[in-house]
Amino acid sequence: MLNGKNILIGVTGGIAAYKVVEVASRLKKSGANVRVMMTRNAAEFVTPRTFQEITGNAVSVEMFGDAANFHVAHIALADFADAILIAPATANFLAKAAHGIADDLLTTTILACDKPLLIAPSMNTKMFDNPATQDNLRILRSRGVKILEPATGELACGISGKGRLPEPIEICAAVEKIFASGILSGKKILVTAGGTVEAIDPVRYIGNRSSGRMGFEIARSAVDAGAQVVLISGKSELEPPKNLQFVKVESAIQMREAVLKEFDSVDAVIMSAAVADYRVKNPAAQKIKKSADALTLELVKNPDILRELGGLKKSQVLVGFAAETQNVLNYARKKLVEKNLDFIVANDVTADGAGFGVATNIASIIWRGGDVENFDKMSKFDLAKKIVERVARLLNDRKFFPVNLHEHKNQFVLEN
Ligand code: CTP
Repeated sequence: MLNGKNILIGVTGGIAAYKVVEVASRLKKSGANVRVMMTRNAAEFVTPRTFQEITGNAVSVEMFGDAANFHVAHIALADFADAILIAPATANFLAKAAHGIADDLLTTTILACDKPLLIAPSMNTKMFDNPATQDNLRILRSRGVKILEPATGELACGISGKGRLPEPIEICAAVEKIFASGILSGKKILVTAGGTVEAIDPVRYIGNRSSGRMGFEIARSAVDAGAQVVLISGKSELEPPKNLQFVKVESAIQMREAVLKEFDSVDAVIMSAAVADYRVKNPAAQKIKKSADALTLELVKNPDILRELGGLKKSQVLVGFAAETQNVLNYARKKLVEKNLDFIVANDVTADGAGFGVATNIASIIWRGGDVENFDKMSKFDLAKKIVERVARLLNDRKFFPVNLHEHKNQFVLEN
């Protein structure tokens, strides 16, 4: 799987650096061309010569001078890499990477590289659990950096806990996964989730019962299928899935802005957010005090984000949701047409085992051509997989058939 791939390993100054010698060796044996860069501290634990002998390539430590045939070393290394692995990654490295600090060859190379980055942290448990380190990991994850969870066990400092570098075989498997070709590999997918929050005043809002679970599962499933995923979420208490770009918004207006910013660069949009149809016309700047017996709020219509995307769409696949309480298929069909969607996922939110706040759903998928697929009650995780498979099928068909084929599928017209 790694045949001909260029893997750049960055070694930072942790005791587990010695394990990375085996990682480099395994990656090389599985066909990769491996280069190693080290921090000065890392070179205190393992000598550059060890990595040089294992990889057959010069090892870079210094920003200036030690890589004779590399012009501007950090740029050359960044260009060389198909993927970068940092192992072991110290807390200090995580802090620098999260904040764009580039004060040596390794951190400068990371900043100059836009290839997939896999980080394997290893440190003392308290350092790992420290909120500063956890915040840095969160920042890195939100930018799509893949983080390999440290293992739990005996640590070099004598205590037992979380912080061990995973075994070389596991690290290599994670590197291989970067190149694994899932059904959505090479595709960028935008998923929206959760409910929007429309302010009444600084302490109160109009919201809805959406938990965000369906959208989060779709985003997770798209990541598993190899896609680059942007998840734009309104209110949700759930922990966002890993290895995707997470954008938090509150109101429908903010969600629209965030979605439009991404729309041109994505291959598909799956709009599972519960967007409020109305917002308060003039939210109060200060907390509204209790006085009169009745209070009237004037509401104005929010933009319909999905309908707008339907008007703008070029080759993107568009998927919507219809959460209904009656006439499910008819209402859903109407939305499918009005919003120019490829398919719509419809469900009766009042049915047992479907709708808000539960882990299962009972859905139907209605296709543009009129076909309907009815699914039995299943977990939101399984339904997410079905949705993602169908999006992949549409996108992969388009690879062979030019855009808009399915508009003409009964006539077998191929446009070039
Ligand atoms: N949607 C949207 N912007 C809105 C409202 C809805 O993008 N302002 C999207 C939802 O994310 C969903 C689809 O449109 O994918 C259908 O949402 P739904 O609330 O069921 O339909 P509405 O068009 O708002 O119609 P109604 O509320 O009258 O049923």
